Amino acid sequence: MKKLEQMYEGKAKKVFRTDDPERFIVEYKDDATAFNGQKKGTILGKGGINNRMTNMLMQMLEKQGVPTHFVEELSERETVVKKVTIVPLEVIVRNISAGSFAQRYGVEEGIVFDEPTIEFSYKNDDLGDPLMNQYHALALKLATKEEIETIKTMALKVNAALKEFFLTVGIKLVDFKLEFGRTSDGTVILADEISPDTCRLWDQETNEKLDKDRFRRDLGNVEDAYQEVMRRLMGE
Ligand code: TMP
Ligand code: ASP
Repeated sequence: MKKLEQMYEGKAKKVFRTDDPERFIVEYKDDATAFNGQKKGTILGKGGINNRMTNMLMQMLEKQGVPTHFVEELSERETVVKKVTIVPLEVIVRNISAGSFAQRYGVEEGIVFDEPTIEFSYKNDDLGDPLMNQYHALALKLATKEEIETIKTMALKVNAALKEFFLTVGIKLVDFKLEFGRTSDGTVILADEISPDTCRLWDQETNEKLDKDRFRRDLGNVEDAYQEVMRRLMGE
């Protein structure tokens, strides 16, 4: 499959058209941003790690009945995916308090919830991805009622599967962000990526942060953390 012109460039990935109208090719970059692009940097090797980790996790999720955009890994940084229109919602699932949740509600990080939480942000960089509830999403026609129900059910299923999987390699899944897309026939499937850019991952024993918070918070050893997650998940 051939990469034709670039359709879109995001903060961490580029998306290309192909000769198949139902397929795109995504290319992962080493670029990293935080705080709505205000902080910029490079995490060497991140593109390859995020590409391969996402593909491995999406194939695992497919086996458990979650439809995803994954089609075929083309190279270290490139993957063929199903063409979708992204639902402009960032779907955030949390198992443990951290990040904006801890800040917003004035609680410490590390509180283990009895049940996972789900929240939505409006995917809109100009507005700084504002938090919204499902009624707001409906009012703005970002998704239908049925789509929102599907997205919530899938997000919880993804959480259960990922949480269990990460635990087998000694990692606590604190929280993560998902994005969903619609295929040309209107089916909602999991899209985007699942990586240390989009998940908070803490070592089970020490609570050491093994994710992009090392970059966001200038904690150092950013590359090492990405490599450590890769090593635990894929034995390299
Ligand atoms: P938050 O605590 O900053 O709201 O982040 C929750 C989770 O979502 C965390 O795992 C990081 C991820 N995330 C993204 O993937 N992209 C984003 O733009 C933001 C703000 C968070
Ligand atoms: N990547 C996001 C941005 O630049 C934020 C983040 O992941 O913290 O806005």
